[in-house]
Amino acid sequence: MRGHFITFEGGEGSGKTSVIEYLKDYFTDLGHNVVVTREPGGIEIAEQIRDIILSKENTAMDELTEAYLFAASRRQHLVERVIPELEKGSMVLCDRFVDSSIVYQGYARGIGMGKVFDINKVVIGDFMPDLTLFFDVKPEIGLKRIMDNSRNMNRLDLEKVNFHGKVYDGYIKLMEKYPSRIKAVNAERDIEEVKLETIKIVEDFLNDLK
Ligand code: TYD
Repeated sequence: MRGHFITFEGGEGSGKTSVIEYLKDYFTDLGHNVVVTREPGGIEIAEQIRDIILSKENTAMDELTEAYLFAASRRQHLVERVIPELEKGSMVLCDRFVDSSIVYQGYARGIGMGKVFDINKVVIGDFMPDLTLFFDVKPEIGLKRIMDNSRNMNRLDLEKVNFHGKVYDGYIKLMEKYPSRIKAVNAERDIEEVKLETIKIVEDFLNDLK
């Protein structure tokens, strides 16, 4: 049986990465074969592309170049990692996927959501996540979190506050477009509550398949 492809989306500082690790342990204990991966990256070639995209040196990067590099990284990760795992029946938990490009490059950078989706259709075809969780955190709160954690900031983190506001608005628009696939999690709360809500959404999704 084909596995499940579940993706995690949100702005900076949404806490999704730690929740993904928690979900991995939870569903592994229940007997699932769980694979955690991320975009851009997840495998060697895609990690190399990631370094180019996120390097703070690359301030001259054109927005379409950026969109195509994300798509190239996505293609390699999909064929080398995601699809083979799904064919083995794994539950693949992926930190970001095509929705990030539609929102960051399409909406926040202004290329156009439809245009970026079209660029990505070339690399993903009809392949879409089975379920997407949007970690809903207002940009002011998310950005404060990453400053407080003194995380190493990458080229996209360093964008102006206005850009992160657009990212948030872009996700809201996308959720309105795909209400059955994308579920919002209120991620402004305590991390333990966020974990519980996320598990409930994934469990409901799995139960609906039965
Ligand atoms: P990362 O450090 O992985 O961020 P996060 O922990 O927030 O997921 O950096 C990835 C950055 O790349 C993040 O700012 C979102 C951005 N991004 C895009 O702009 N487009 C994309 O298609 C993807 C996958 C990520």
